[in-house]
Amino acid sequence: MQQSNKIKNMVEKDKTMKAVRQHEFGGPEVLVYEDAPIPELNKGEVRVKVHAIGLNPPDWYLREGYKMLPPEWQPKVPFPIILGTDISGVIESVADDIEDFSVGDEVYSMVRFPSYGPSRAYAEYVNVPVSELALKPAGIDHVHTAGAPMSLLTAWQFMIEVGHDEPNPLQPNKHVPVPLEGKTIMINGAGGGVGHFALQIAKWKGAKVIAVASGRQEELLRELGADEFIDYTKTNADEILKDIDLVIDTVGGANTGRFLKILKPGGSLFPIFPLGFSDRDEAEKLGVNVSATQVRSDGKQLSELAALLDQEIIRIVIDSTFPLAQARQAHERAALGHIQGKIVLTVDQ
Ligand SMILES: NC(=O)c1ccc[n+]([C@@H]2O[C@H](COP(=O)([O-])OP(=O)(O)OC[C@H]3O[C@@H](n4cnc5c(N)ncnc54)[C@H](OP(=O)(O)O)[C@@H]3O)[C@@H](O)[C@H]2O)c1
Repeated sequence: MQQSNKIKNMVEKDKTMKAVRQHEFGGPEVLVYEDAPIPELNKGEVRVKVHAIGLNPPDWYLREGYKMLPPEWQPKVPFPIILGTDISGVIESVADDIEDFSVGDEVYSMVRFPSYGPSRAYAEYVNVPVSELALKPAGIDHVHTAGAPMSLLTAWQFMIEVGHDEPNPLQPNKHVPVPLEGKTIMINGAGGGVGHFALQIAKWKGAKVIAVASGRQEELLRELGADEFIDYTKTNADEILKDIDLVIDTVGGANTGRFLKILKPGGSLFPIFPLGFSDRDEAEKLGVNVSATQVRSDGKQLSELAALLDQEIIRIVIDSTFPLAQARQAHERAALGHIQGKIVLTVDQ
C-alpha cells in the first residue's frame, strides 16, 4: 500500500457534492437530498468516494436529536447535519501525511463514532481519519461491505476484543468479553444488524447458539448456524430456557433483566442497548455478570474482520437497499422494524 504517486486533493475545495442533510431534528421527512460543500481534507485523513452506506440505529437517534436521552446528554449539533457512519468506497484523495493508503484503494469504515464531525456518511464524499479505515474485503461488493462496520464492530467489541482503553460511558468498569468456546449462548434479536453477526461469531468460536427472533427470521438464522430457534411472538425465551452461559440481548432496554434467571451462576448478560436496565441487585444475588460497552471506530479491527468476511466465515445479510436520494424511505423502512440484516443506501457512480 505504499503510495507512489501522491495525488492530493483532486476535488477542488469549492466543489459541491450531493448529500442527505437535515436542518432540524425530526422524523424521516427532515432528510433532504441536496447540494452540500465537500468538506476540506485535514491531516491524517483520506477522502473516500462513497459507493454504499450502511444504516444503523444511531442514525435515527441523531435524526430525532437523541430524544430518549436526558436533556443534558442530548447532542448540540450545528445544523445542517449529515447522518451516518458506515461507508464502503474508493479513496479519491489523501492528505499530505498519509503513507499507508493510496488513491484508488477500496476501503470501508465506521467513521467518527461515538464522536461527531462535520464529514459524515450520507454523502458522495466522506473524509475519514486513517485510524478508522481498512481495506475492504476484496471479494465482497460495496453494498454488502457497507452493511458491516458498526454492527460487526459492536458484536466484535462485546464478544471478542474491546480494542481500546477509553472510559466506558455505560458503566464504571471496562467491558470484558467472555470465552465463547463450548458455551451455550442465547442471542435475542438475532436477525438484526448486530444479532446476525453475533450469531456467526459465536458459531465460529464453537458455541451452541439459541437464536430468538420473530418467525420470519427462522430460515435465515438456521442457515447462519443457529442450533435452536425461538419465535418470541409465540414463546417467551425467559420462561423455557435455563443454564445459559451468555445472553446477548440486542433488544436490551428496561426488559433485559428478565433474562437474568435463565443464566447459570457465573454467566453473563450483555445488553447491547443497556439504557433502562435496573436489576443490578438481582444480578448480584444470582451471581450474573451484566456488562456493556459502546462501540468505537477501529480501522485495525476492521482489517482483521475483512479477512473473516473474505473467507465467508461471516456473511453480511442485506435487508434492503435504497438510492442515497431515498434516505427518507430507508428510514421509513427501518421504522417498520423486523429488520433482517442491514439496510444500505447506494450512491450512483
Ligand atoms: N452498545 C453499542 O455501542 C451499540 C452499537 C450498535 C447498536 N446498539 C444498539 O443495539 C440495538 C440493536 O441494533 P441493531 O443495529 O442490531 O438493530 P436492528 O438491525 O434493528 O435489529 C434489531 C432486531 O431485533 C428484532 N426484535 C425486535 N423486537 C424484538 C423482541 N421483542 N424480541 C426479540 N427480537 C426483537 C428485530 O427483528 P424481529 O422482530 O423480526 O425479530 C430486529 O431484527 C439498538 O438498540 C442499537 O441502538 C448499541
